[in-house]
Amino acid sequence: MKRILFVIALAAASVASAQQPAGDPKAAEPYISMCTGCHSIPGYQSSFPHVHRVPKIAGQSAGYLEAALRAYAKGERSHPTMTGIAKTLTDKQIVDIAAYYAERGAASK
Ligand code: HEC
Repeated sequence: MKRILFVIALAAASVASAQQPAGDPKAAEPYISMCTGCHSIPGYQSSFPHVHRVPKIAGQSAGYLEAALRAYAKGERSHPTMTGIAKTLTDKQIVDIAAYYAERGAASK
């Protein structure tokens, strides 16, 4: 039951985010080089400081990606690399990067 509620909440969040003004994917391009090393390869694993499965982020909804990056920046979600990276991003960079990855997945499907 918990799981079903979670899925409904996620669906509601992505509907809400579709109505928000989108970020600018072009503006995000200079920062994407920070992410591709880990996130561009499906099924890739990062081995520092432990082996982590790197989630695929291309094609996820922009709202979800934004929320995840903000959660790392605020320390609500914690992972050594992601927290470190998210803390260096401005709010605009987060929105733009989320738009970039959301659009990229849609194009490569
Ligand atoms: C050193 C490898 C590495 C780099 C570089 C990196 N990430 Fe990650 N990222 C990870 C790992 C590993 C996770 C999963 C961490 C966890 O379990 O919370 C993750 C998780 C995420 C998530 C959450 C995905 C989900 O499904 O919840 C997002 C969003 C994300 N990264 C975006 C980025 C962005 C944007 C950049 C560049 C600015 C970036 N990452 C750079 C390794 C990396």
